[in-house]
Amino acid sequence: MDKERDTPAGIDRNPTQYGDPGFSRYLRRAFLASSGFDRDDLERPIIGIADTSSDYTTCHRDMPALVEAVKRGVLEAGGLPLVFPTISLAEILLSPTAMLYRNLLAMSTEEMIRAQPMDGVVLVGGCDKTVPAQLMAAVSADLPALLVVAGPMRTGSWQGERLGACTDCRRYWLRHRGGALSEDEIHEVEQALCPTGGTCMVMGTASTMACMAATLGMMLPGGATPPSGSGDRLRQGVATGRQAVTAARNRIVPSGILTRHSFLNALTVLAALSGSTNAIVHLLAVARRARIDLSLEDFHAVSAEIPVLVDCKPAGQGYMEDFDRAGGLPALLKTLETKLHVDEKTVSGRTIRQILEDVAPPGAWQDTIRTPDRPVKPSGALCVLYGSLAPDGAVIKRGAASPALLRHRGPAVVFESPDDVAARIDDPALVITPDSVLVLRNAGPVGAGMPEAGSLPIPRRLAAQGVTDMVRVSDARMSGTAYGTVVLHGSPEAAVGGPLALVRDGDIVELDVEARRIDLCVETDELERRRASFRPPPPPERGWRWLYTQHVLPAHQGADLDFLV
Ligand code: FES
Repeated sequence: MDKERDTPAGIDRNPTQYGDPGFSRYLRRAFLASSGFDRDDLERPIIGIADTSSDYTTCHRDMPALVEAVKRGVLEAGGLPLVFPTISLAEILLSPTAMLYRNLLAMSTEEMIRAQPMDGVVLVGGCDKTVPAQLMAAVSADLPALLVVAGPMRTGSWQGERLGACTDCRRYWLRHRGGALSEDEIHEVEQALCPTGGTCMVMGTASTMACMAATLGMMLPGGATPPSGSGDRLRQGVATGRQAVTAARNRIVPSGILTRHSFLNALTVLAALSGSTNAIVHLLAVARRARIDLSLEDFHAVSAEIPVLVDCKPAGQGYMEDFDRAGGLPALLKTLETKLHVDEKTVSGRTIRQILEDVAPPGAWQDTIRTPDRPVKPSGALCVLYGSLAPDGAVIKRGAASPALLRHRGPAVVFESPDDVAARIDDPALVITPDSVLVLRNAGPVGAGMPEAGSLPIPRRLAAQGVTDMVRVSDARMSGTAYGTVVLHGSPEAAVGGPLALVRDGDIVELDVEARRIDLCVETDELERRRASFRPPPPPERGWRWLYTQHVLPAHQGADLDFLV
């Protein structure tokens, strides 16, 4: 038995190497004495707290108080909390996309967990990519670890209408592009969309991944939905701090929690939430790190069975505070109890079955968490497609698509990159009709770090005619807050020679969601001729982007770096 790994060794874990362990221990105590820690403090289990606060990450602006709450919980349970910063990923303020840096956050967090002395860790995240990165780090470090999130924003309002980021951001922007909203009006909307600290308050990627972390058992029950800055949220921080000490003492590690069954539970909840398509890429990455067999087909199979039960935008009408008031994730798990593997363990030290013994079913007074006989949408909200345009798979969120477009043939209008979309989508010379299929390429993991560019804007002149949706196909991702008939994550991606690289303007693209097909209707001989002239884009010159491009795995394998899985 590895004594060091099974007994909290506090400040003496991971010694700095001077060739003299006694000197290392003595020096650590000397420097920590400067922070006011005495011998008694340093006898306690040490709980590292990974803090992703940043002025750039506005979604985390209430995080300092949450971190203080976690620290208090650690102290109450007899541990010593030591906060350390990691990079923070602000979804809206990072270029070209926060996704390019998910693996960097995962890698840096894992390395700091390994390199610094700690017996357990609390990972404090929230904004879209932070939670998956922290899950990936926790799995790879395999130290006792709990996640806690900033929590969602509360809703705002404009002219009497309730507003939330960012499903309503998109809806109002589309109206502005179509000329229905003036500059002054869109400015007023802009000021009302994000009224408090916290993550996007719809079922976007942040909310989805918080629910995924809790369902996987890596977060305390009830931790996914309380609003940012609320008493509930702070109490969740305190409880997490306390439990981190227990988890460290009892060696409750991710490898003892995560199983294929716990991932299938997460997929069940993902389907019931009609959660973000980004969760597919993230869960595949976390599962690969945990050496758990999980594939795109698992997502399709579970979604085909589970209806959408939570009425949150973008698939429904409500917001995260409605979901929270209705009982939040525990009440949803209670509704899904017969569909879950309830003997899976969690960081609370209890199984899901034991947790649900204390949870009441959603009350009849609420309408946000539905029963399977009265769902928000039928099963099959998330579909995995294959075909000549995506031999390794693509994804469509049927629950957020237009029913009339789920079977569609149309001529392609091809864009070479997200920049090309920005430059030409409103070009009056662009030959385009509502039946056209917008094709975006070179926006996959290798091509561009996989930005959320897949939900291409409707061309302004069509928006002005009242067109609100068109078929769009790409190797990009889409924000979890977005909607439309959007085929995403096309794999293999164009930048490595996937079929998206071969599409030309005017080619017929055929989508048939029922048949699970996305096809390019061009003769094989012609495609081979085009393939012979394919040249991959030049790689970035240096730094992280070079490393990422050399080693990133395809989307259908989670887009992690090949040397980290
Ligand atoms: Fe941070 Fe939406 S931008 S959660």
